[in-house]
Amino acid sequence: MSDQPVTVVGATGYLGRHIVAELDGRGHRVRAVVRDPARARRPGPHGSPALDGPRTELVTADVTAPGRVAGLLDGSTRVFSALGVTHQKASPWDVDFLANLAVLREAERSGIESMLYVGAIGMEHGTSLVARSKTAFAAALESSPVAGRIVNPSGYFSDMASYVTLARKGLVFLPPDPGIRLNPIHGADLAAFCVDLSADRAQRDRVRVEVGGPDVLTAEEIARLAAAAVGATPRNVRIPRRVLDGAVWTASRISERHGNLARFFAEAMTGDAVGRCTGTHHLSDWFREIA
Ligand SMILES: NC(=O)c1ccc[n+]([C@@H]2O[C@H](COP(=O)([O-])OP(=O)(O)OC[C@H]3O[C@@H](n4cnc5c(N)ncnc54)[C@H](OP(=O)(O)O)[C@@H]3O)[C@@H](O)[C@H]2O)c1
Repeated sequence: MSDQPVTVVGATGYLGRHIVAELDGRGHRVRAVVRDPARARRPGPHGSPALDGPRTELVTADVTAPGRVAGLLDGSTRVFSALGVTHQKASPWDVDFLANLAVLREAERSGIESMLYVGAIGMEHGTSLVARSKTAFAAALESSPVAGRIVNPSGYFSDMASYVTLARKGLVFLPPDPGIRLNPIHGADLAAFCVDLSADRAQRDRVRVEVGGPDVLTAEEIARLAAAAVGATPRNVRIPRRVLDGAVWTASRISERHGNLARFFAEAMTGDAVGRCTGTHHLSDWFREIA
């Protein structure tokens, strides 16, 4: 195995932490780019691991700041990006597009072999700024000389935790069509998939893949699993389409950021999000763990 480090940006997020742990666990040297090293050394949310593996080096940099990516990839052969706005107060264009683009340009300059980028399933059909920023970056990666691996996952287990929280409170909101299907994926399973894909030397060409966990579930079934995990019988309330549209309209009046976030969630609630099934973690078990 090469002793050159693999660089990970977005390393302190739910998925980034699992990617760093997976690489470190397989014996790779890892350069994890973080904004706050003290926070990075503590475990992350939803059971995601601390960045304290024996082969993990923390490099402090804010990749959204101009010029901060210079030299960051020197000596690396591969870079992984799980960098993107979720709960952070920042523009998706600045992070999902521009910051990832800065990393890509640095990868081109330093002769990196491949860049694995984690987007989101269905992003190319989305109209929110999050979806458009991710799609714009994926297009830039696909036209770069750096070999791109684009992984578009279904929802993460971390995002499903709200079903358990709501079930505990006795009221669960369901999408307009409670029969929409998704296959949520555990961070460790997605990280293993990403590391396998990046290491696959047979994959010389550009790759774009949609992926999810082992169980394809409807939103209604997920609500049922959450209810069973907490041992309650919550009331399930379906959000009518017009209410969802109204929420997007209202959020857009508050601020552009609120509007875009609302649009992103509304779009995620109105279509199937099923990718290639992978992994061994089942949502029902995870719900019982966190209940
Ligand atoms: N969660 C889901 O269900 C889901 C589903 C499909 C796709 N995805 C995508 O997968 C990627 C990773 O998701 P995640 O749930 O792991 O997200 P996350 O926990 O919020 O992690 C995002 C990462 O990006 C960094 N980041 C965000 N805004 C930043 C900013 N303004 N400046 C510098 N760094 C910033 C975060 O750094 P800090 O820790 O310092 O904030 C963190 O390392 C995202 O692109 C997300 O859209 C998520």
